[in-house]
Amino acid sequence: MSQQHLTLISTSCIVVSGICLLLGWWQIRRQRMEAHRAFMLAATAFASLFLIAYVTRWSLFGSKSFEGIGGWKTFYLANLAPHILLAMTVGPLALYQIYLALGPKDFARHRKFGRITVPIWLYVSASGWLIYFLLYVMEF
Ligand code: HEM
Repeated sequence: MSQQHLTLISTSCIVVSGICLLLGWWQIRRQRMEAHRAFMLAATAFASLFLIAYVTRWSLFGSKSFEGIGGWKTFYLANLAPHILLAMTVGPLALYQIYLALGPKDFARHRKFGRITVPIWLYVSASGWLIYFLLYVMEF
């Protein structure tokens, strides 16, 4: 399997994860707890698959450097930096959310942290797709 295939798989997983997240959020807004739980656990499963595909690609092929220059390079780096920083916070936040909901059932805190976790996760998902596009689709 090529570097590009593995990257496409991992990026697709993070996008599907973002879609499940949106659907899960929409379900809880409509008071549908069972559907919320199912979509949020699916979002977490796809994010985990992303991580597996990403680490596999990275250990087999290393990382790809951006070929654009000038303003494109600045734009790429300005997206990459917050993407990496926020991606590192999403994992612990998501696991904490699941723990709060399934463990102590502390839904007051779950709601509070959920309103931080969901936008960060969505940003990571959308910016991940943008970075894939800049690295592998656009030609410089
Ligand atoms: C990573 C996983 C999860 C995230 C990011 C998440 C996110 C959220 C968010 C943002 C809200 C607040 C919605 C709003 O009021 O605007 C919420 C509420 C809720 N979530 Fe989750 N959730 C996750 C997993 C779960 C799981 C596994 C359950 C299982 C039972 C669950 C049960 C609930 C319930 C019952 C509420 C309503 C709480 C209330 O209004 O008192 N969530 N969640």
